[in-house]
Amino acid sequence: MSDFPAYAPSEEHELLRRTVRELAEAKIAPFAAEVDEESRFPQEALDALVANGLHAVHVPESYGGAGADALATVIVIEEVARVCASSSLIPAVNKLGTVPVLLAGSQGLRERFLGPVARGEAMFSYALSEADAGSDAAGMRTRAVRDGDHWVLDGAKMWITNAGVSRFYTVMAVTEPGAGARGISAFVVDSETDAGVSFGARERKLGIKGSPTRQVVLEGVRVPADRMIGAEGTGFKTALATLDHTRITIAAQALGIAQGALDFAVGYVKQRRQFGRAVADFQGVQFMLADMAMRLEGARQLTYHAAVKSERAMGGERVPDLTFVSSACKTLASDVAMDVTTDAVQLLGGYGYTREFPVERMMRDAKITQIYEGTNQIQRMVMARQLLK
Ligand code: CAA
Ligand code: FAD
Repeated sequence: MSDFPAYAPSEEHELLRRTVRELAEAKIAPFAAEVDEESRFPQEALDALVANGLHAVHVPESYGGAGADALATVIVIEEVARVCASSSLIPAVNKLGTVPVLLAGSQGLRERFLGPVARGEAMFSYALSEADAGSDAAGMRTRAVRDGDHWVLDGAKMWITNAGVSRFYTVMAVTEPGAGARGISAFVVDSETDAGVSFGARERKLGIKGSPTRQVVLEGVRVPADRMIGAEGTGFKTALATLDHTRITIAAQALGIAQGALDFAVGYVKQRRQFGRAVADFQGVQFMLADMAMRLEGARQLTYHAAVKSERAMGGERVPDLTFVSSACKTLASDVAMDVTTDAVQLLGGYGYTREFPVERMMRDAKITQIYEGTNQIQRMVMARQLLK
């Protein structure tokens, strides 16, 4: 018999949800349409999150952070994404950028780089992808060459979320050409003090338009040898081990987007009248709502389950199925988000297709969750490898 070690969100988790929901509705939602329309960084959201200590809740207390667990971090991201997906990338990417340092960084790196993030003085991005190395991330070409007690980085990282806004970057680079995944190392780059870092133009995107996506260009960037995260040649493993924890945060973003769309659709169908009654009275509409809510709750349960496994692994426990559940919840939640937001547009009819209502933005925002942190095809490959190994 199993010992039934189910997770249960605590009272603190529920209190956190209420707190973030109130904050998000008051301080972030009012700007969400404008941020999308103008493709501008949601500074109001960053300010509100920092003022309330919600911009990087995962940073442990020992480095000056709130020390929130992975489930609490999921709840923060979910509630911010419910009103503005772009803004939810502030806590999500701060986690993505810092987890390599938490998993494999030296004490010195942790002390130096996590404090500013915890205090809201700096953000931290993650630079793995390149123009010709997305799914096949190990095919990267950015080089790091040893020069005395420094490494010199050259190359261009593509699609980097919050590039230009973040100060710190975890950068994966080839230190031993020809060695494949084992020839890649990870470094912390400080764009304020390391000369040679510049940023490409902002990508013009379908959704999450408030979140800047830019190239990070590295030209002769000299970093001290102690900026390497972990041992030489372990950077790709650290990058993938990080994604085991952070694909869960993308699932959280997807859940939030879907919940926002469902909540809006439920309110709308009760108001909208056709054939002399509220459209919510039609069984065809009710069945759509029931399916949306059912699938969303299923994805949420898997995501919370994965978050608890992530927390256990962060605490040092061996969690052999973390890779599987992390990929599974990201895939399920993102597919559900795409379906739920599309159905929400449908439930608003022609109005849903216009910018007068938020559901078309939510549908555009949902799409990215099927693509980044590994496309859903790659997630299926990861899951299948776990099953077959
Ligand atoms: N944890 C630790 N190590 C792992 C691992 C994991 N989860 N998975 C694999 N490894 C190890 C392997 O054991 C192997 O090590 P050894 O050689 O010592 O055995 C090494 O890593 C290489 O593994 P693979 O041979 O499986 O590597 P691969 O080249 O076949 O690639 C992949 C695997 C799953 C396709 C991987 O490249 C991948 O995940 N691609 C998708 C890229 C991705 O997710 N990018 C996200 C960018 S961030 C982002 O998008 C952010 C955002 O939007 C906000
Ligand atoms: P490709 O790898 O070229 O894939 C093209 C198609 O082929 C996809 O449908 C893919 O699923 C499919 N495919 C590829 N290989 C296989 C296979 N073996 N089996 C089946 N199908 C396959 N990266 C970062 O490092 N940091 C970031 O902060 C970041 N933020 C991002 C933000 C945005 C808005 C976007 C769009 C991307 C971001 N990325 C980031 C990059 C993102 O992770 C990649 O776009 C993603 O991993 C896919 O890589 P690609 O775009 O090169 O697609």
